[in-house]
This record gives sequence, C-alpha cells and structure tokens, in this order.
Amino acid sequence: MRLVLLGPPNAGKGTQADKIVKQFDIPHISTGDLLRKHVAEGTLLGQRAQGYMDRGDLVPDDLIIDMVQDTLENIDIEKGFLFDGYPRNPFQAEALDDFLLERDLGLDRVLYLHTDQELLIRRAVGRRTCPVCRTVYNIFSFPPKEEGICDKDGAVLIQRPDDREETVRNRLKVFEEQTAPLVEFYEVAGLLLRLDGSGSPDEVFDIILKELGE
Ligand code: AP5
Repeated sequence: MRLVLLGPPNAGKGTQADKIVKQFDIPHISTGDLLRKHVAEGTLLGQRAQGYMDRGDLVPDDLIIDMVQDTLENIDIEKGFLFDGYPRNPFQAEALDDFLLERDLGLDRVLYLHTDQELLIRRAVGRRTCPVCRTVYNIFSFPPKEEGICDKDGAVLIQRPDDREETVRNRLKVFEEQTAPLVEFYEVAGLLLRLDGSGSPDEVFDIILKELGE
C-alpha cells in the first residue's frame, strides 16, 4: 500500500500514521519527525531548518527533497510506504511523482484528514511528546497516567516549540496557502479520500480502514 497522509497541523496525522503502518506493515516517513531528529542531533540540515520550523513556516523545498530522497534510498519500500506531512506543496508533489515514476510506481491513495480550526488549536495546545520514545499524548484527550511523565519510560514530557498558539495559527495559514492546493491536485488525480478527523483516534482509524476497503 503506497499512501500519503495529508492534513492541517494537529489533524491527527501522526496518531493515525502509527496505526496505519502497524496494520499494513509499511514504513512511516514523517518529514516533521525526520527534521526534528536533525534538529536534536544538531546536523547542518537541522541548523538550517530550525528557524523555519520554530516560526511554523515550510522548510525550503531543496532541503526537504534531498532529505526524503536520502531516506527513500535507505529503506525498503517494496511493500509500500506511508508519507506523513510530505508532500506539502505542488513542487514537492511533482518531485514525489517523478521519484515514483522513475521506479514504475504510483500512489494508491491520499488520505486527507480534516477537522475544524478550533479543534486543531485545542489539540496543539494540549499536545505533549516524550523526548525519548516519541509517544504523543494530549492533556485533554490522551493524558499520561502521571501528569507530565511518559507512561512508557518515565521521561519528562515536552511541548513542541511550534505548538504555541501564535505559531499554530501561522502553521494553519501556511497550510491554507501552500498545502491546501494539493487537495484538488490529488482529487483531480482520482486519489483523494476525504476523512473526518474529529472523532476519537479509534473512530478515525475505523473510517480509514473502511475507506481503504479493509
Ligand atoms: P509536522 O511535524 O509534519 O507537523 P504538522 O503537519 O503541523 O503536523 P503535527 O505533527 O503538528 O500534527 P499531526 O497531524 O501529526 O497530529 P498528531 O497526531 O500529533 O511538521 C512540523 C514542521 O516541520 C512544519 O511546520 C515545517 O516547518 C516542517 N516540515 C515538515 N514537513 C515539511 C515539508 N514536507 N516541507 C517543508 N517543511 C516541512 O495529533 C496532535 C495532537 O492531537 C496530539 O496531542 C494527539 O494526541 C491529539 N489527537 C490526535 N488525534 C486525535 C483525535 N482523533 N482525538 C483527540 N485527540 C487527538
């Protein structure tokens, strides 16, 4: 299964991605996670990307496309893949198409998760992440057993710097201006599935499985 997960910030892409890759046993390629890893490790790419990420702007295409191509060269995509947060604009979508075409491959589906804006902001403000195992919590909808502590490894949970309300609003604006055109792009290509992401994580996952014919 070759899938793309598209949607505004905090629509639940990462949450659903974890479930989808387990179900289909395919690699998960999250450009946001890859970039945060580069930032944490202090690589040159991480240093160049950090300012854009902290402001909630898109990281320049050349950096993203090189990073994605490097990743794809080093993982087995024989059984498929799930892209989460990539492509993010028409230029990146064309680059992905070219990459797949060169290998005689195509996408099976593009899953577009949508919910209303106030819910997206509430989810952002409530998100906490474990810096060690990357488990994502939410103080409103999926709190850890002990406040501020990861259930799995006891690490102190952190709030992403780009989850401050002002930055979230910029990320939403960037989504509308630069990423939303991909909804029509993939609809015209006959690949788009529009999915209501406002239910619980399990409810949303059930919708995804049904739409994928599972
Ligand atoms: P990225 O990490 O991709 O951020 P994003 O797209 O803004 O998405 P998020 O990770 O914020 O949210 P999500 O939809 O995965 O939601 P989640 O499941 O965590 O990108 C970060 C930055 O990197 C970008 O701003 C940009 O600078 C850069 N970047 C990345 N890719 C790029 C690219 N291709 N090109 C250029 N720049 C790029 O859920 C959110 C919260 O809600 C969690 O707390 C979760 O527990 C909770 N939740 C999830 N689902 C539900 C539910 N159904 N019910 C209740 N709560 C829920």
